[in-house]
Amino acid sequence: MKSKKDILSILDIKDEIPKILDLAIKFKNGEIGGKPLEGKSLAMIFQKSSTRTRVSFEVGMYELGGNSLFLSGSDLQMFRGESISDTAKVLSRYVDGIMIRASNHQDIVELSSEADIPVINGLTDLEHPCQALADMQTILEKKGNFNGKLAYVGDGNNVCNSLLLISACVGMDISIATPKNYQPSEDIISKAENISKKTGSKIQITDIVEDAVFGADKVYTDVWVSMGNEEEKEKRRNDFLKYQVNSKLMKLAAKDAIFMHCLPAIRGEEVVTEVIDGSQSVVIDQAENRLHAQKAVLYYLLK
Ligand code: CP
Ligand code: NVA
Repeated sequence: MKSKKDILSILDIKDEIPKILDLAIKFKNGEIGGKPLEGKSLAMIFQKSSTRTRVSFEVGMYELGGNSLFLSGSDLQMFRGESISDTAKVLSRYVDGIMIRASNHQDIVELSSEADIPVINGLTDLEHPCQALADMQTILEKKGNFNGKLAYVGDGNNVCNSLLLISACVGMDISIATPKNYQPSEDIISKAENISKKTGSKIQITDIVEDAVFGADKVYTDVWVSMGNEEEKEKRRNDFLKYQVNSKLMKLAAKDAIFMHCLPAIRGEEVVTEVIDGSQSVVIDQAENRLHAQKAVLYYLLK
């Protein structure tokens, strides 16, 4: 049994979330200085596009004194047939950690089980834990606590799954409105419900968007067409029509509600310009917090 730590899922850090958020806040405030990861290297594997995840991890490693290697889908032998196992074992001899964005969550589970070094999920079809950490940091910053309700509207995908788990862990109420065929993973719902029995978080899964948003002090959405779903573009645009975050929907939320989005966003689809570029929107702060949260994750795993 290997003693390394990974962050493949929010479940891997379910008891460490306050500690990681505390580190993220300290990094943002400049309370942790020096070069704590001097001499350490991070391999960053990207099977899909990225702006925030790539740049925040790369700059984060640099600012902590370490080094990062950007390995895109067209660079690695793994994407032309080398086994995940050989890749994991070889990288373990060169670098101190692997951050990976992959299509299939099982691939990163396999990579992690064969690697001797920490593996970080930079987004899969199932979860986006690093995003959820930055989002919790943003909520703490804007609201001061996890009281109040997070309404998630749209596709019950990777971002939604991690938000559901992290909300349960920190004891925050979450109400998720998706069309019937786009609900979060059954397994994740049941794990979140189990955790919520201890933390007191109230979980609602519905297809009625107004129910989810009513009284929420945080309204969150994500794209209707995620990376890899491009073939279903037309169908999805139709299926999600009622789930657009617009000014009328935001009026159902609390007066002081914030609007959140992991980005990238498609204005005119899941959210209108008036909301994402309006005074309630915190999306750029969320994106900034990816840097601080990623430094916290790197420090927690590699220091
Ligand atoms: N939110 C997020 O992960 O953005 P990127 O796809 O740009 O990394
Ligand atoms: N759900 C989106 C998130 C992008 C950060 C996707 O998977 O493409």
